[in-house]
Amino acid sequence: MSRVLLVVVCLSVMFFLASTTSAYMIDDVLLVPKAAYSPEIDGVMESIWYSASSEIVVVLDAGGEVPPEDYLDLFGTIRLMWDDDNLYVFFHAVDEELRTDSANTYENDGWEIYFDGNNSKTDQNYDGEDDVQLRIEYDDVAAADMDAGYGSSVSWNYSTAGIVFAIEDWFAEAGDGMGWDLEVAFPLEDLKIPAEVGTWFGFDVQMNDNDTGGRNNMYRWWGSDNIAWVYANLFGTVELSGYVADDPMQIPQTTEAPVIDAVLDNAWLTNSFGIAQGKYVVRNGTTVPDGFAEILDWWDLQVELYTMWDADAFYFFGQVIDDEISNTSGNAWENDSFELYFDGDNSKNDFTAGVPYDANDKQWRWVWDVTGTPGSGTDEYAWGSLDIDYDGYAFELKIPAADF
Ligand code: BGC
Repeated sequence: MSRVLLVVVCLSVMFFLASTTSAYMIDDVLLVPKAAYSPEIDGVMESIWYSASSEIVVVLDAGGEVPPEDYLDLFGTIRLMWDDDNLYVFFHAVDEELRTDSANTYENDGWEIYFDGNNSKTDQNYDGEDDVQLRIEYDDVAAADMDAGYGSSVSWNYSTAGIVFAIEDWFAEAGDGMGWDLEVAFPLEDLKIPAEVGTWFGFDVQMNDNDTGGRNNMYRWWGSDNIAWVYANLFGTVELSGYVADDPMQIPQTTEAPVIDAVLDNAWLTNSFGIAQGKYVVRNGTTVPDGFAEILDWWDLQVELYTMWDADAFYFFGQVIDDEISNTSGNAWENDSFELYFDGDNSKNDFTAGVPYDANDKQWRWVWDVTGTPGSGTDEYAWGSLDIDYDGYAFELKIPAADF
């Protein structure tokens, strides 16, 4: 990115033990956290969602699908959580032209959601047992407006009636039609998905984009063929994890200290959980949508974070997708960097009332690729590269407990 961005992470030093924990995606299985309480289904992302990963939905059809013109034409992310009753999905769509005027519902702006309840992924067919393609268009208002499809197979008496959703066209505030958010609760029982830690099911989503009266573009989370509506074997896989999404955020206790080398090793994969940035804060301090124009493209900045603790230390791992990395500004805080904020007793002094940081409030900064940055004092850290196919960097950090 040509602009300078800071990745700011606010953490209160309140360590919570989560019982079963795991990372967010291992061996191509997306791990989904269990929600400590149900989010309000209103299309607005409340803080419990900050403990879920944000999956980018950018897979194009291998068969010559036209890519969107740019970020504002089409981009999407999904976050998932579950509880004993529902699978919750938060869909975030960037789209500067919102249209639903095609007679074919799959050509209108909307999300398609694919489920295979028992993950059987029948080769080249829906199995007629628990495979379904669902669709919510931008102008749908109730479950009855949704479509349900079974490919070339038959209905298994699935009903969308129990689905609750809400659409928030909040980008309208920033200008006409910048995109929309969709929050949905899918009853798990209706989908024949057991609400138990360790359950796997087949899953995909597709975004359809109508710009000129028909479908101009589409993006999928997993599959790269426009035939997932018939072939269940093209779906991805989701696991219901025991990591608890909550507010306050849960920092798992690890049984194994990670090696500080900017590689996401087994200690992380088995003990922690990947979560996403909660909010974009742009240079002028405003949040999206007001600062929307400052985000140049989705690869400008996407962040995934892991945290853990043990008796010796607090551990942090950050993976950043960022197409332009720089550390040349004279102001450290204007460089690509991580800042971590701690309030040891969670007293959260009110700065608006003029109360400054107290003795256990800290702001520590690590500037990308700079060694010897004054962090906490005796911390250890390493910068590295991403192990996914995007430009960016990885950062691993250990802050000894004594530094707090
Ligand atoms: C596909 C269309 C198909 C439709 C059927 C969509 O996801 O992209 O090609 O006709 O599903 O519901």
